[in-house]
Amino acid sequence: MDFYKIARAILFRLDAERAHHLTLSGLRAASKIGADRLLDPGVGPDPVEVMGLRFPNRVGLAAGLDKAGDCIAGFGAMGFGSVEVGTLTPRPQPGNPKPRLFRIRERAAIINRMGFNNPGMEAALDNIAASRKGFEGVLGINIGKNKDTPNERAIDDYLTCFRKAYAAADYIAVNVSSPNTAGLRDLQDPAAAGNLLRTLKDEQAALAAETGKHVPFAVKIAPDMDDVQLRELGALFGELEMDAVIATNTTIARDAVEGLPHAGEPGGLSGAPLAGRSTEVIAALRGALPAGVPIIGVGGIACAADAQAKIDAGATLVQVYTGLIYRGPALVRELLAARLG
Ligand SMILES: Cc1cc2nc3c(=O)[nH]c(=O)nc-3n(C[C@H](O)[C@H](O)[C@H](O)COP(=O)(O)O)c2cc1C
Repeated sequence: MDFYKIARAILFRLDAERAHHLTLSGLRAASKIGADRLLDPGVGPDPVEVMGLRFPNRVGLAAGLDKAGDCIAGFGAMGFGSVEVGTLTPRPQPGNPKPRLFRIRERAAIINRMGFNNPGMEAALDNIAASRKGFEGVLGINIGKNKDTPNERAIDDYLTCFRKAYAAADYIAVNVSSPNTAGLRDLQDPAAAGNLLRTLKDEQAALAAETGKHVPFAVKIAPDMDDVQLRELGALFGELEMDAVIATNTTIARDAVEGLPHAGEPGGLSGAPLAGRSTEVIAALRGALPAGVPIIGVGGIACAADAQAKIDAGATLVQVYTGLIYRGPALVRELLAARLG
C-alpha cells in the first residue's frame, strides 16, 4: 500500500506552501518518535566514492526542501544517501511574499519564487546538529547571499557562510543559480564566478590547513545557458579544480508549460519539463570538464529511467526534489532499487 497516494490526495487540496509545511512537520514528528522506520525503503547500500566522500548510494535530496536543516534524519530514513540543506544565507530572511509556490499538475511541475527564506546560518547550524542524529549519509550545506547584500559584496556573504558551514558540512554547495534573488545569476558570468570560486578555494585551503579537515565544495548552475557559456564555465571549473558541479537549478523557460494555469508566475520551473534540458546541460558540461570533476545531476527526475539518463550523460550522483513531491517516498525506493550506475 502506498500511503503517499492517500496523503497526496489530501496535500494537493491545500495551498502548495501549507502542504509543504505540513509534510515537513510530519517528518520531524516521525523522526522524534521513531516512526520513521515506516519509511525504510528496504534496499541495501550501494556505496560510491565522490569528492573523496563515501556516499551510501547515488540518490540525494536536492537543496530547498530542508531549507532550515531540521529534517535531515527524516529524509535519511527515506533512503537518501545525501541531504543538501539550505540555501542558507548569513542573516535570517523571510523570502518573497506569498503565494510563492505553485503546482502545475498537468506537467508534474512546480514554479517557485521562495527567495531563500531561511533562518540564517547560525540558527540552521543548531538545527543541523540536532536533526542529523542517526543520519548515516552525506550532509551538504548549500550557501547563498542575503537579498539585500549587493553583488559587489556577495563574496563576503559566501565567505561568511563557507567559514560557518565548514565544520558541520561533509560538502558545501555554492548556489549562484537561483532565479529568485535579483542579480544572483550574474555570478555565473565567468569573470564573477572565477573571482568568487577562487576566493572560496583559497579559503578552503586555509581552513583545511587550520582544522586538518578537507571539506569539498561544489558549484550549482542554472540550465538557462547556451553551449558557449557552458564550455567557458566548464573550462573555468576545470582550471580551478572544482570538487564537483551540480547541474541544474530551476529554469526560467516556460515553453513546456505555456498556456497552463500558473505558467505565467515569475520564478523557477522544476519537475518533468526540466528533465531533458538539465540532462543536455550535464552532457555539455561533461564534454567541457576534466574527467576528475564529478557532476551531480538534478532536474526533473521522476523515475529510475530519468535518473539513469543523467548518469549516462555523465553525472555520478543524482538529486531529486519535485519528483518527491509528486511521487513521495516510492520514488526514492525505485531509484535505490534500480542500482543506478
Ligand atoms: C520550492 C523549491 C525551492 C527550491 N529552493 C532551492 C534552494 O534554496 N537552493 C537551491 O540550490 N535550489 C533550490 N531549488 C532547486 C532544486 O534544488 C533543484 O535544483 C530543482 O528543483 C530541479 O530539480 P527537480 O526538478 O527534481 O525539482 C528549489 C526547488 C524548489 C521546487
